[in-house]
Amino acid sequence: MPASAVSDLSVDAAQNALARRSVLLGREVVFFENTDSTNIRAARFALEGSPEGLVVVADQQSEGRGRLGRTWFSPPGRNLYLSAVVRPALPVSEVAVLTLLAAVACARALRRLTPVEVSIKWPNDLVVGDRKLGGILTELSARHNTVSHAVIGIGVNVNMTAAEVPDEIRPLATSLREETGRPLSRTDLLVEILADLDRWYRVFTAGGKALVLAEWMRLDTTVGREVLVAAPSGTLTGTAEAVDGGGRLILRLPDGSVTAVSSGDVTVLNQL
Ligand code: BTN
Repeated sequence: MPASAVSDLSVDAAQNALARRSVLLGREVVFFENTDSTNIRAARFALEGSPEGLVVVADQQSEGRGRLGRTWFSPPGRNLYLSAVVRPALPVSEVAVLTLLAAVACARALRRLTPVEVSIKWPNDLVVGDRKLGGILTELSARHNTVSHAVIGIGVNVNMTAAEVPDEIRPLATSLREETGRPLSRTDLLVEILADLDRWYRVFTAGGKALVLAEWMRLDTTVGREVLVAAPSGTLTGTAEAVDGGGRLILRLPDGSVTAVSSGDVTVLNQL
């Protein structure tokens, strides 16, 4: 039997609170004190036939995965690492919206529970100012261009202190504790994040993609700014104009032409 609680993270308490809210995402939560990656675990459960809504939570990850093949720093006893299995009847081209809706859900939940003004930086960063608070990694399995399952992985820096962060990411990272000056209950955060994830997933799958995109734009700090995008195909600078229905960043280049970028890292050049 895996444990169900460690220090301030009780998955049993979270699951009881979620059951009272009749959520789909989070109706079953599996907890590991230590795992390779909650995304890997969740994908294994999905391949074994787990239903939509299963969520894997870990206190620590030994192979936490970030975007673009990076590792996600995942020490024990501090942060939230969770992955939700979903099975939307969607073409692969729509999957990017899952990442956008997860970012919306996290930003809204964290703003509700804390005084921290959490924003979104394209495509999937949860940021406070120019520091990264969390990120989302959606991975999928598809057949004939249709999603069989997707895993929405969410990492949020909760109680980690700056001193605990490796030197190379310290200037770029923050945590809720660093922002508020006090520790927070990971159980409460888990409940609120999953409740919002469930809500926005339902909005999307009921045809509310435009609502997801509108809320994303409201919480985003990228659109309307001069940005530098380090994309796999090269570096671009321009004005971020919008995010399209496929989750791509629409960039107006200095020569006036417009291009859509699917992946990359954004640096905002005119930081307010
Ligand atoms: C990023 O910003 O690069 C995405 C980071 C996503 C990290 C989370 S932590 C829970 C889940 N399991 C993983 O291995 N990665 C995601």
